[in-house]
Amino acid sequence: MTIQTIQTTPFEGQKPGTSGLRKKVKVFRQPHYLENFVQSIFDSLSGFAGKTLVVGGDGRYHNRAAVQTILKMACANGWGKVMVGQGGILSTPAASCVIRKFGTFGGIVLSASHNPGGPDEDFGIKYNIGNGGPAPEGVTEAIFAKTKTISAYRTLEAPDIDLDRLGTQTVGGMTVEVFDPVADYAALMETLFDFAAIRALFTNGFRMCFDAMHAVTGPYAVEILERRLGAAPGTVINGTPREDFGGGHPDPNLVHAHELVERLNAPDGPDFGAASDGDGDRNMIIGKNFYVTPSDSLAVLAANATLCPGYAKGLKGIARSMPTSAAADRVAEKLGIPCYETPTGWKFFGNLLDDGRATLCGEESFGTGSDHVREKDGLWAVLMWLNVLAARKDSVAAIVRGHWADYGRNVYSRHDYEGIDAKAAEGLMEHLRGLSLPDAATHDDFAYTDPVDGGVSKKQGVRVIFKDGSRIVYRLSGTGTEGATLRVYLERFEPDPAKHDIDPQVALADLIALAGQLAEIEARTGRKAPTVIT
Ligand code: G1P
Ligand code: ZN
Repeated sequence: MTIQTIQTTPFEGQKPGTSGLRKKVKVFRQPHYLENFVQSIFDSLSGFAGKTLVVGGDGRYHNRAAVQTILKMACANGWGKVMVGQGGILSTPAASCVIRKFGTFGGIVLSASHNPGGPDEDFGIKYNIGNGGPAPEGVTEAIFAKTKTISAYRTLEAPDIDLDRLGTQTVGGMTVEVFDPVADYAALMETLFDFAAIRALFTNGFRMCFDAMHAVTGPYAVEILERRLGAAPGTVINGTPREDFGGGHPDPNLVHAHELVERLNAPDGPDFGAASDGDGDRNMIIGKNFYVTPSDSLAVLAANATLCPGYAKGLKGIARSMPTSAAADRVAEKLGIPCYETPTGWKFFGNLLDDGRATLCGEESFGTGSDHVREKDGLWAVLMWLNVLAARKDSVAAIVRGHWADYGRNVYSRHDYEGIDAKAAEGLMEHLRGLSLPDAATHDDFAYTDPVDGGVSKKQGVRVIFKDGSRIVYRLSGTGTEGATLRVYLERFEPDPAKHDIDPQVALADLIALAGQLAEIEARTGRKAPTVIT
């Protein structure tokens, strides 16, 4: 086993996006491509010699090969130990949990989240810092800078490491510990939620369906829901992780989790449905014939948090991304706690959580989480809902309708235009920035100053907020791998309970039409309608 220094040249475009570097598998499989990025991560860190790195991914195609590459490079770069989930598997929240629990220096998470997997699909890599959360922008910018000047990387010439055998091995002087990816995470969940009450709920005939979408949460959900909480066998569907996610799109929304939706809406369907995405950090919550928007889910969980043992003392604050609806703000106001509005991307919550300013966080993109880890956490949200359902002994629909009656409803929808021409998308955003809108109360490109470290993030989305509080937000996706995706976020507040049961597409129709006109969407993108509506 010898350490080798391999000469290389930079690749263009290794810029981490909203959540790490995401590219097609074919791009990642080019010789030196992954190696350049991993070396750039290591070169932008200091003080890790002899320390521990956590490595794992969502099991998608190329996961195992990438883990081998990273292990060998970690050894050649002087890491003392790598903790790797068995089979190279770790859900994103479990990676965060393990980094925190064992106080490791950081971790590398391999995932393209909800993007499809397979030889012609997507792969991704991101670095998480010692708090368990995604690297902040300062770190990702340093990594990107290194990718532009890299000339060599270090690796170990060695046979592949056995990723399936639990226990400790030594590779070129570095320790590799292969550990059970589920155990530490499940133990953490037991400290936060009333497992006895949830178990009693299932014993009394409550039925649920959890769609793991052939992705990483299958083993976590079977262990926690079926084994520890006593949900009926078969509660978890699509529970075996596959490299191509069964050919599906592991995105927990009404379109992609259609099997779950059909089961819930069947006459004898279960009481509660949930799904998680490729790497286990997203969640969708549904009741019988009732869909809970992620923005509402955050608000309902915040309003009911003290029913859960881990949050019984109350919340310090709530944080939501700017495009997420203001439903949570209303709860924060009632609770007398602060509500923070951050740019899109979980990394912006890290400082607020570390600093004890926020306890719960959420994004409209099916992401909810708390200060128990530093990632959003799909199963955590499902367990919190189960805890609330067990305590309130009411249906999902009744709980959400009751919430709207108390607080009013922030009617909300997101329209995505996927795969549009990148130049046209940039032009559309420029056009929006330059508009003159005298009727708008606010018309700006959202900028955020981190209250903890003072860091400023600009150009985080164009906001058009009207005097009645209704708003349109436009931004371009930072996670796509092809062309551009325009996201249009629409929101209007409805205080009147008699109007709460309305279809958001109907309630928001005027705003939707206006959003199209202002941005000249059809003329600029050639699209008459969005690709995905959530
Ligand atoms: C999307 C979501 C964002 C989320 C991110 C990672 O990013 O909108 O809320 O944090 O995925 O899961 P976007 O593609 O919009 O940049
Ligand atoms: Zn994800």
